[in-house]
Amino acid sequence: MTADVTATLPPAISVAGLRRVYPVKPKPVTALDGIDLEVAPGEFFGLLGPNGAGKTTLIKILTTLLLPSAGKASIFGFDVATEAAKIRRIMNMVAGGEQSGYGILTVREQLWMFSQFYGLGSREGWRRVDELLDAVGLGDQRLQRVSTLSTGQRQKMNMARGLLNDPWILFLDEPTLGLDVSAARAVREMVLAWKGAVPGRTVLLTTHYMAEADELCERIAIVDHGKILAIGTPAELKRRVQRESVLRLEVNRLDGGPAVLAKLPGVVSAALAADNVEAGTEAQRVAVNLVLRDDNALTGVMAALGAAGSRVLGLRTSEPTLEDVFVELVGRGFADEADAEAANAGADHDHSHPTEDAER
Ligand SMILES: Nc1ncnc2c1ncn2[C@@H]1O[C@H](COP(=O)(O)OP(=O)(O)OP(=O)(O)O)[C@@H](O)[C@H]1O
Ligand SMILES: [Mg+2]
Repeated sequence: MTADVTATLPPAISVAGLRRVYPVKPKPVTALDGIDLEVAPGEFFGLLGPNGAGKTTLIKILTTLLLPSAGKASIFGFDVATEAAKIRRIMNMVAGGEQSGYGILTVREQLWMFSQFYGLGSREGWRRVDELLDAVGLGDQRLQRVSTLSTGQRQKMNMARGLLNDPWILFLDEPTLGLDVSAARAVREMVLAWKGAVPGRTVLLTTHYMAEADELCERIAIVDHGKILAIGTPAELKRRVQRESVLRLEVNRLDGGPAVLAKLPGVVSAALAADNVEAGTEAQRVAVNLVLRDDNALTGVMAALGAAGSRVLGLRTSEPTLEDVFVELVGRGFADEADAEAANAGADHDHSHPTEDAER
């Protein structure tokens, strides 16, 4: 593909009125509830959403692993329901933590086997495998058994597998899940290098790492309960919360958690900051991201903290992050999710779906 061709290509992803219901008992699960989406050739597009939002379901439909219950979806003009074979030739998918393959094979043999599934000739397969092993930084592991790879090495191998058929579009479902900082960066760089090499190469990524989405994605859709709540560039999404005050508050303790603050008048959202030092019972410092309707709400927050015996250690305004946008739209931060379940203290403070709170 060249740049000129890109302009004349159909959308990399086109989705209209897409629904997916899993027919499970006793109550069917609506995983996708009317999704409309268009991704242009060459875009790096992100899906952000809490657990169970429907991201993987959408990817499965777009990669022809699952049929829609209603609505339409196509990849570069090919319909997912009727032209699956054509789509499979031009796309690939890599998921975080995937265990594909046979542990007793060497990395090189394993990838070559996949190259044969993808229809490469025998010799062409070996050539491509060796080229990709170097590209993903697994040259030294090429003769090592797959079962002996570290998590990060295995994921690099999975990435190499995902590039074997030279896809036009790559679906990445939490590709850096469980990787350390440098392995995650290596995977991100690998994806960017691959994408940048040929105009029109397209990526759809899901991630729970806000910084990763911010760094990589040209546009992002925030999804929850099978619906798109907001869509735009990271900058556009951040501007949505700019009109409010975004603050970072640090206290020595916060009994009842951020939910206590989230309930106060004028508080749009309150969530534990993602960078909190592990909030054990001994924690001396709890950082909370606060979004206030306006600065006046701060008086009430301070009064409530005083009444609860929390000492304020720091307070500063911060530039909105994607996490602030996420918290405002979805009603809770990622750092909160585990806490909310564990504490079961009604910490969910959901602006968008007040009537559905009871179902979580
Ligand atoms: N095979 C299935 N049968 C029944 N329900 C399913 C099935 N797969 C997914 N679901 C449900 O569909 C909803 C969406 O799940 P999905 O895996 O798409 O979410 P997700 O956004 O990828 O979440 P996560 O961030 O946890 O990966 C969830 O409520 C899930 O329980
Ligand atoms: Mg998922």
